Amino acid sequence: MRVKFVAGNWKMNGSHAGNAKLLEGLLPALQSMSGFDCAVCPPYPYLAQVRQALRGSRVALGAQDVCAFGNGAYTGAVSAAMLGDFGCSLVIVGHSERRALFGDTDAGVADKFVAAQQAGLMPVLCVGETLAEREAGTTEAVVARQLDAVLDKAGAAALGRAVIAYEPVWAIGTGKTATPEQAQAVHAFIRGRVAARDGAAAAAVRILYGGSVKAGNAGELFTMPDIDGGLIGGASLVAEEFVAICRSAVRH
Ligand code: 13P
Repeated sequence: MRVKFVAGNWKMNGSHAGNAKLLEGLLPALQSMSGFDCAVCPPYPYLAQVRQALRGSRVALGAQDVCAFGNGAYTGAVSAAMLGDFGCSLVIVGHSERRALFGDTDAGVADKFVAAQQAGLMPVLCVGETLAEREAGTTEAVVARQLDAVLDKAGAAALGRAVIAYEPVWAIGTGKTATPEQAQAVHAFIRGRVAARDGAAAAAVRILYGGSVKAGNAGELFTMPDIDGGLIGGASLVAEEFVAICRSAVRH
């Protein structure tokens, strides 16, 4: 049984005052719980504030994106080495908002994945189809394409040291969660695709579901055999919601 993992993706939200309040609401509750792994991914300017608040806690620090290049003349970018040096232990790569709005390609995401692992960070690789792709019956083809780009570049064994997040684009921020059965079907497909290349990596890799996860639906999602936790957007900005989602991760 894989230990469940719940990660909060704050996206481009927060302020010093708001973060302090959120962390005050989260940390005492999370400290008193065990049996699951947990992380938060604030925007870059708040990493220092959050790192300070998390000191000595069980909550890991992650970033939301990383540059595929090593240090050098790349104005505006942040390298994996810097994130590692700073104390981040994980980084999200290939979030659908990056793919849709900032031009991240499958190949570019694979480069970020490799750069993250080379710097000792655990990549959280996001994959998922749009509504049009689901309605066209191409969910598996889209997810396979996104996954294969990383499997080909990083090697299948590398997935055993990573996290995958299945985030159907139509479920992100829309209040429309995939049913546990819909999500399980894609999670099983993803695990099977990794297993076809490396059985040990497939058994080890945690596959999180993301897309309108809330306290009210986390429990039923987390009971599915291939759903190993959640990548939480909006609900990670509300302390009671995030804590309740983590509580569901302990139970299952
Ligand atoms: P929501 O939980 O707000 O739907 O966002 C999901 C997500 O994109 C997490 O990365």
